[in-house]
Amino acid sequence: MITFAFANPKGGTGKTTSALLLAEQIARANVRVTVIDCDPNQNILEWANRRTEYGRETPFEVLPRPSEDDLIDMVDSLVGKTDYLIIDLEGTASQAVTFALSRTDFVLIPLEPNSVEGPHAARAVALVERTGNLMHRDIPYALLLNRCNAAFETAEERALRDEVANCSVNLLPVSLVRRTAYTRIFGEASLLSELVQTTTDRRERERVEKAMENVQAYTESVVNTLKQRMAA
Ligand SMILES: Nc1ncnc2c1ncn2[C@@H]1O[C@H](COP(=O)(O)OP(=O)(O)O)[C@@H](O)[C@H]1O
Ligand SMILES: [Mg+2]
Repeated sequence: MITFAFANPKGGTGKTTSALLLAEQIARANVRVTVIDCDPNQNILEWANRRTEYGRETPFEVLPRPSEDDLIDMVDSLVGKTDYLIIDLEGTASQAVTFALSRTDFVLIPLEPNSVEGPHAARAVALVERTGNLMHRDIPYALLLNRCNAAFETAEERALRDEVANCSVNLLPVSLVRRTAYTRIFGEASLLSELVQTTTDRRERERVEKAMENVQAYTESVVNTLKQRMAA
């Protein structure tokens, strides 16, 4: 079982969105995927429950937030039952987050490329490193730039990339751009692949297709980066 966790002590950086997008794309490869929804908002769980109500199949299982004490047991009980586990974490630094990180193979830390979010992401990196020290192992992680401008790199994004390169923090090579499709999947209890089928407006469908290309590149980048880290 390969475990991914999405962490950032700041709320609203895109943990839930990027976790759901990754789950869908990995499940397309016909492997068993499970999501543990540790976000108190339970957005992914609600999304999955609405799909069930509407009679739509979901290509992966979504488990509700366990209590802090039960989290590690829940993760360990999934070994052999799922190929990929994706943990969507809450936007605070809690013991549950540390527990989840202790079982994670690759942590993704989404952040919007602006000067406000840099320090929060740095706290997430420090937490991953502290947890790794505690466990006597290296926990691979990467920052994931999210809500990037689709058309061009903003000055703030360039400045953040320079800063990240200077302090040798790992950055995922592919970013997620700002796309309405990524909010529509929640509003419409939809998979991104379903939006491609159901969007009738030509302009909007082109944007959804662009979003799909972006998410496929992001997923490939996550999988390849993890492979490289595991081989190192
Ligand atoms: N790449 C994106 N493009 C457009 N909207 C996004 C994107 N990423 C996140 N959002 C929106 O931003 C808000 C916060 O995202 P969310 O994934 O819930 O963050 P977190 O889980 O870190 O609190 C949500 O309304 C979500 O739909
Ligand atoms: Mg969330």
